[in-house]
Amino acid sequence: MSNKQFDVIVIGGGPGGYVAAIRAAQLGFNVACIDEWKNAKGGPALGGTCTNIGCIPSKALLQSSEHFEHAGKHFADHGIKVEGLGLDIDKMLGRKDAVVKQNNEGITYLFKKNKITFFHGRGSFVKASDAGYELKVTGAAEESIEAKHVIVATGSNARALPGADFDEENILSNDGALRIPGVPKKLGLIGSGVIGLEMGSVWRRLGSEVTVLEALPTFLGAVDEQIAKEAQKAFVKQGLKIELGVKVGEVKTGKKGVSVAWTNAKGEAQTLEVDKLIVSIGRVPNTIGLNPEAVGLKLDERGAIVVDDECRTSLPNVWAIGDVVRGPMLAHKAEEEGVAVAERIAGQHGHVNFNTIPWVIYTSPEIAWVGQTEQQLKAEGRAYKAGTFPFLANGRARALGDTTGMVKFLADAATDEILGVHIVGPMASELISEAVVAMEFKASAEDIARICHAHPSLSEATKEAALAVDKRTLNF
Ligand code: FAD
Ligand code: NAI
Repeated sequence: MSNKQFDVIVIGGGPGGYVAAIRAAQLGFNVACIDEWKNAKGGPALGGTCTNIGCIPSKALLQSSEHFEHAGKHFADHGIKVEGLGLDIDKMLGRKDAVVKQNNEGITYLFKKNKITFFHGRGSFVKASDAGYELKVTGAAEESIEAKHVIVATGSNARALPGADFDEENILSNDGALRIPGVPKKLGLIGSGVIGLEMGSVWRRLGSEVTVLEALPTFLGAVDEQIAKEAQKAFVKQGLKIELGVKVGEVKTGKKGVSVAWTNAKGEAQTLEVDKLIVSIGRVPNTIGLNPEAVGLKLDERGAIVVDDECRTSLPNVWAIGDVVRGPMLAHKAEEEGVAVAERIAGQHGHVNFNTIPWVIYTSPEIAWVGQTEQQLKAEGRAYKAGTFPFLANGRARALGDTTGMVKFLADAATDEILGVHIVGPMASELISEAVVAMEFKASAEDIARICHAHPSLSEATKEAALAVDKRTLNF
């Protein structure tokens, strides 16, 4: 085998692609991964959207801004006096960049450890070949490589608002939103989805006056209604202005920032004047430069690569995973698909349970859920029981000084099988794992209710919500 011929070529080094490459290498394949992301110096920066301008830098800034807010607003409750509190935004952004770099380097190390050949550049299909598929890598030089199996993991890009292209100076995507050089006095956000709420939280905590314009009449429509209402109450109390049912009109940029014409839910014309505008209205699958036409790889009307439940595309031995295919645009979903595809290539039975993929919104309070919402169960006409437990009645939450929110269980009325768990409150991102494990093992609410949970811990709220399904909470 020449060094230009591989068993598996992965296009894209985000969480889907790099994990697929590692798993395929673990299974004994000769693997190459092509990724075009460039760091500030033009060198490679493995990890894709998630590592470079997504999950990781957003969580770094969420943490820094939360510390700032705690020091300014909450330390006093603990009897801690803070004088001369200030903000060094350059240092904060620098720390975030350092966290990103650590993750980039971690993946480079993992590639070396697993003997994965890395190509820095753009990968595109050339033709089906005797070996399987021929690809071109366009980087510092142009190379031709071949493999029997190709895994496409080219991710997604931010969707622009028509007539308001991203300039990353005034009109920002998630990329620009993570590197605003100074705290804007007024910040506008279009779209109150996951990015809108996380980025809105960061800059509000650092001092911006934040207004969010959302097209839908309901707040966080995909979230369980009761949980979404509780979260909305908390965000409004924190000072986030959320306008629902709006229609965004003309967006103009000028010397003073951005002006957005919009109509409110009553149909009244309004104008929002802000220093910066973040547009977070969803993401579009990315196949730019991939040249799918060369081999006849099928895309759907949204531009996503068409795949079946097992990530098989329209072509033999070409697979696609992560944001570039159907399903939730989440890093852990991309990773699971990557592992499953590598195992299928090896003739194993890779498996992804789409019903137990957790969602987390890393605001404060955090929002996390797995499985079905109450409104979905009602729409299905499924008989269910619900149980909730508020963090207000949890000793650890009181000690933390963070009692907003609740844990909610939904279980089948006849069998008691857990159908969904929804959390709004402290550390919801960590608490949801117990529910994921329980649902993966088809546990009943009673199973969780009978498990010993450490005291005092937030996880006791999970146990109590499970007890609440049978109307026998102990502490509420
Ligand atoms: P990507 O991470 O987008 O990686 C694709 C890679 O392929 C990129 O490096 C790209 O440069 C490269 N590429 C594309 N085309 C080519 C080509 N032709 N040749 C070579 N290389 C190519 N998800 C979570 O689960 N948790 C979170 O907390 C979270 N936070 C987020 C915060 C923000 C602000 C954003 C924007 C997203 C967040 N996400 C989060 C979503 C998450 O980032 C994506 O679901 C995830 O990155 C998808 O992984 P992927 O491997 O499919 O694609
Ligand atoms: P989103 O789909 O979460 O939310 C977009 C919002 O914009 C929706 O509420 C939608 O109704 C609204 N919208 C759409 N068009 C509009 C318009 N013209 N005017 C006003 N509102 C409009 O998308 P978002 O926030 O851009 O994030 C993209 C994806 O990235 C998420 O869906 C998620 O998959 C991923 N992500 C995940 C995170 C996490 O797991 N914590 C964090 C951030 C992003």
